[in-house]
Amino acid sequence: MAIYLDHAATTPLRREVLDAMLPYLTDAFGNPSSAHSFGRAARAALDEAHERVATRLNAQGREIVFTSGGTEANNLALKGAAWAGKAHGHRIVTSAVEHHAVGHTLRYVEKFGFEIVELPVDRYGRVDPEQLEAAITDRTILVSIMLANNEVGTIQPIAEIAAVVRSRKGVLLHVDAVQAAPYVDLDVEALGADMVSLGAHKFEGPKGVGALYIRHGTHILAQQQGGTQERHRRAGTENVAGAVGLAAAYELACAERPETVARLRRQRDKLAKTILATPGTEVTGHPKQRLPGLLSIIARDTDGTSVAMSLDLEGIACSVGSACTTGSTEVSHVLTAMGYPDEEARGALRLSLGRTTTDAEIATACEVVPRVLGSMRLGSFAVAADPLGQGVPV
Ligand SMILES: Cc1ncc(COP(=O)(O)O)c(C=O)c1O
Repeated sequence: MAIYLDHAATTPLRREVLDAMLPYLTDAFGNPSSAHSFGRAARAALDEAHERVATRLNAQGREIVFTSGGTEANNLALKGAAWAGKAHGHRIVTSAVEHHAVGHTLRYVEKFGFEIVELPVDRYGRVDPEQLEAAITDRTILVSIMLANNEVGTIQPIAEIAAVVRSRKGVLLHVDAVQAAPYVDLDVEALGADMVSLGAHKFEGPKGVGALYIRHGTHILAQQQGGTQERHRRAGTENVAGAVGLAAAYELACAERPETVARLRRQRDKLAKTILATPGTEVTGHPKQRLPGLLSIIARDTDGTSVAMSLDLEGIACSVGSACTTGSTEVSHVLTAMGYPDEEARGALRLSLGRTTTDAEIATACEVVPRVLGSMRLGSFAVAADPLGQGVPV
């Protein structure tokens, strides 16, 4: 059985979550907008899902909008706040290491006359709150900074960031918490965010379901027109089973968080220590402020894509930088922003553990990953392929 070390890309759907969803895919199939008993049963489940997610975020049910995933939650937050705030200003501040669901969305928003300011990050991928403060002008309407990075796992100093934004009247703070959600407590009051994005498939919920927390009183414009669902903020018949699944998965993730985080840290540190014994390897991202299960490394003089393919043949599934960019030869924008030159960034590998990762799997990975990395050095590869045995590195 292959070992799955790509939980930052997606996680398996949890059995209990599937069980919670099944009734709404079968007998309780009603449309929540229907007035009859079928519709009312679906409506009750949907309302409850809002409440359950809200409780875990220290929010209110009406502040949650279910979406088709993290990408849509980010799109709704950014475009919704931009269009709604146009009369007040046109400047939006973000970071250079956001997921494309934020970065590309803002590039699109820019075409409509908005000014997008991308803050640089340090070697660990962190934004400097003082630079944020300096970037906010009277024309700024929105700041969007992710909580945890999907490629290197760095957690942003979000309390300081929120304090800066809160001190500027009329500026909204959106936080993409899609990667952070299973591992970091998302109390929206403590976080000080106006909008927070979640995606169910990162915490053993179904794919294609997400949620956007929108603080009560925050004005955003809906991005799709049609019915009045989700309090006029997201038209379209609701994915009741998906919403129930997200709520069930998030509750379980929150309840088990302390023990999951402790175990993942131990497993990840063991794997990191073993891999770092291989010459030319380094861990990227912040040494302490990072997601517990994410191990992002650079192995110099290797090609991350070839290493990941070799690991796959050896039964270990992991990813090159971000799964979303797999297949493209582009170097990760995150590592570039962190100051890594292209030739180093090409040797980037992301191993991401999850709640279901076992100690036995980590023991196997500790044996396989260093061996594959050692054999994949560009120099040693050339020597092995050298038919004349001259060992001329290419
Ligand atoms: C930080 C971050 N934001 C947004 C997304 C997009 O979420 P989804 O896959 O649910 O659309 C991802 C997915 O990898 C992510 O890691």
